[in-house]
Amino acid sequence: MKQNLKAITHMYDTVAREWAVQFAAEHQHKAKDREVLLRFSEDLQGRQPVWDLGCGPGATTAYLKKLGVEASGLDLSAKILEQARNAHPGILFQQGDMLKLGFSDATIAGIVAFYAIVHFREQQVETAFQEIFRVLEAKGVFLCSFHIGEGSIHLDEFLGKKVDIEVIFFPVAFIHRCLKDIGFRQIEIIEREPYPGVEYQSRRAYVFATKPSR
Ligand SMILES: C[S@@+](CC[C@H](N)C(=O)[O-])C[C@H]1O[C@@H](n2cnc3c(N)ncnc32)[C@H](O)[C@@H]1O
Repeated sequence: MKQNLKAITHMYDTVAREWAVQFAAEHQHKAKDREVLLRFSEDLQGRQPVWDLGCGPGATTAYLKKLGVEASGLDLSAKILEQARNAHPGILFQQGDMLKLGFSDATIAGIVAFYAIVHFREQQVETAFQEIFRVLEAKGVFLCSFHIGEGSIHLDEFLGKKVDIEVIFFPVAFIHRCLKDIGFRQIEIIEREPYPGVEYQSRRAYVFATKPSR
């Protein structure tokens, strides 16, 4: 069964303001986020363009800018994009679907997707990774994060609002196999324990993957 994109859009439209307030300074509390984003910025070696897919209110997009990477953000939710544009007026934020990217083949240098796949079923994760592979140029860099595990949890309430959404956990081996089968190389998955008091208590993974030259 596919996770309904309307349900995802509705959930983030509903919690947009609260999400933006709650997670505005997230990276301050997450050393590993900062470390992998710095490494991503170095791997890019100044290449452009760079997109933050499932950018939410834009905290990661803005953090990349601080690191000297002029990234743009893409998200399904119009309301969350309003929050992103208000908070970060110098950055381009665009509405779009990472399962069906509007970019031409091999035109993007780098893509970040922090927790953007957390509502996808396995088949949708494959579709998203295929799309990312398609639009990345040769030697393009992909950095993604997700919750490690199996199965899902259902949320009826989030940040004080009524919602109806699944959050899905993925085994590291599934994500690795999926990227490899699509053609990504130099796949590296870094795991960490959750930070107490600042986030949901699940194990996390960061994935670096590169599109080969040929
Ligand atoms: C868990 S939030 C993560 C937001 C942000 N990257 C962060 O780390 O704070 C997931 C985000 O992905 C977006 N999203 C989910 N499915 C999407 C899709 N198919 N295309 C674009 N954005 C999507 C949601 O609207 C939401 O803003």
